Amino acid sequence: MPYNPAMKETIAIVDFGSQYSQLIARRVRENRVFSVVCAPDVDLQQLRDLNLAGLIFTGGPASVYEPGSPRCSEAMLELGVPVLGICYGMQISCLLLGAEVNAAPAREYGRVRLDVLDDTDLLGHVSSPASVWMSHGDMVRSLPKEFIPLARTANCPIAAVRHRHKPVFGVQFHPEVTHTACGGQILRNFLYNICGCRGSWEVRNFVTETVEAIRQRVGADERVICGLSGGVDSSVTAALLHEAIGDRLVCIFVDNGVLRKNEVQLVESTFREHFKIDLRVADAAERFLSRLAGVTDPQEKRRRIGHEFIEVFKEEARTIPHARYLAQGTLYPDVIESGQGLAGQAANIKLHHNVGGLPAELGFELIEPLRDLFKDEVRSAGEHLGLPKEIVWRHPFPGPGLAVRIIGEVTAERVKLLQEVDEIVLDEIRAAGWYAKIGQAFAVLLPISAVGVMGDGRSYEGQQVVALRFVETSDFMTADWVHLDYEVLGCISSRIINEVPGVNRVVYDISSKPPSTIEWE
Ligand code: XMP
Repeated sequence: MPYNPAMKETIAIVDFGSQYSQLIARRVRENRVFSVVCAPDVDLQQLRDLNLAGLIFTGGPASVYEPGSPRCSEAMLELGVPVLGICYGMQISCLLLGAEVNAAPAREYGRVRLDVLDDTDLLGHVSSPASVWMSHGDMVRSLPKEFIPLARTANCPIAAVRHRHKPVFGVQFHPEVTHTACGGQILRNFLYNICGCRGSWEVRNFVTETVEAIRQRVGADERVICGLSGGVDSSVTAALLHEAIGDRLVCIFVDNGVLRKNEVQLVESTFREHFKIDLRVADAAERFLSRLAGVTDPQEKRRRIGHEFIEVFKEEARTIPHARYLAQGTLYPDVIESGQGLAGQAANIKLHHNVGGLPAELGFELIEPLRDLFKDEVRSAGEHLGLPKEIVWRHPFPGPGLAVRIIGEVTAERVKLLQEVDEIVLDEIRAAGWYAKIGQAFAVLLPISAVGVMGDGRSYEGQQVVALRFVETSDFMTADWVHLDYEVLGCISSRIINEVPGVNRVVYDISSKPPSTIEWE
C-alpha cells in the first residue's frame, strides 16, 4: 500500500552516515520532489525501478581514504541521472572519477566565504562572495582535467566542481543547512535545471492516491482496526482510513489511566462526534493503575504498561468481526532509522521509543499509510483531511503517559494532581503564544516533599514539587531548554501553586539533551 514512488520523479539520497541525510530528503520534498534515503550499497536495480531523476550523496563522518569507510560503486555514477555530492559525497564521487582526496591543511568549520568561479549551472544565481556552512577535515586536493572547479574558499581551492562529460557535481559545503543562505538556490538549480524535475510531489495528491490504494486493498466485507492514541500520527492514519473505507474502520482507544486531563473527551468529540468514526474506548484506567501499584522503576513501568496495553487491545480487537487489517502510523524516519526499505543496514540505527507497535502475534496484516511521509507532511495531510488544529499541531506525548512523568510510585491521586498541573502548563503557554514554538512542554512530579510555611511555622506535610520541562528540538534526538519569558514562567508557577492543592514549589529544568533526556525517566 505504501505510496508508489515508481510513478513519481524521485531523488535518492545516498546516506554515507551524515546527521543531515533526512534533512536533505526533507529539503528536496520542500521543493515538491519526492525523495527516498538509501544505503551506499543498495541494489542498483532497486534504484533503476524508481522513476529516478537524480542522486544526492550525503556527507559523512569518515574519511574516504580510511579502510572500511562507506563506499558506493562507480556504477552508481553511471545510472544516467545527475549526481550531487555533498562534502564526503563530493569527495567520494571525485575519488571514483580519478581525483585525489586527503586531509586539508586547515580544517573549516562554520561560516566560510565562498568565491564563485562559474555560475552557469549548479551555482546559477548565487552571488559571489557567498556565505556557506563548512564542516570538513578532508578535501579534494587535485582533479583530473575532466573536472571544472566552480568555487573556492581561502582554505579550500576546490569547494565546488562539475564533471565536463558526466552529470556529476559536488559541493564541499552544506547547502542543506539554513546557515548556507544560498543553499536553497543551489538545490533548486540541481533539482529543476540539472535533473529536470517538474516538482509534482504534493501531500494533497498523496492523500487522494493513498485513499484510492486503501480502497483497492480492503475488501467490501473486511474491516481495519486502528489503535488510536490521540497523537498526530495515529489520528492522521485514522482520518485517512476513514476517508477511504468509512465505517469499515474501527478505532480502539485505550484509556490507561495515565492520560492528560480531558484526553478521552477530546478523542471522543473529534473522532466519534465530528468524524462519526466507530470508536471503541476501552476504559482500563483501574486495571493499569493496579498493575502499576508499588512500581517505581521506570523501565518496569514501561514494561507493565506496554504489556497491559497489548492485553486490553487484544480483548477489544476480538470483539470486532471481519477484522483483517491493523493500521499503524509508522512514519518515514521510523522506516529509515530501523534500517528498513532502501535505507538498509548502513542507516544510522537510532534508539526509538515508538518503533515496534503491536506484535505480529495479533495476526493482522499491517496497513501503514504514512510510511513514506515525514512529520511535517503528516501534519499537512491531517489538515487536508480536516483534523482540528489542536490535534494536528499537538506536541508528542509518550506511550506510557504521565506514568513516566510521576517519579516514584504512580497512584490515582498523583495522576490527578499532575493532570491538573499539566492542564495549567498547556493553557498558559498557549495563551502566551508559545505552544507552536516549543517541541514539548510538560510537568514532572518529583518524589520529594518540600518545606513550606503554614501559619508561622515550617511545614513538611505532603507538599509536592513539580518541575517544568519545555524543550525546543527538530528531531527529539537533541534538544535545548526553552528560554521562556520570566513573565510566563511566573504566571505558570503562581497558577499551579494557587490552584493545585498539595504543590508548593515549581522549578524549571534548564538542561539540554544530550546529556540529559527530554523525559525525566
Ligand atoms: P527522551 O526522554 O528519550 O525522549 O529524550 C525523546 C522523545 O521520546 C518520548 N518518549 C517516549 N515515547 N514511549 C514513547 O512512546 C516511551 O517510553 C517514551 N520515553 C520517551 C519523549 O516524550 C520525547 O518525545
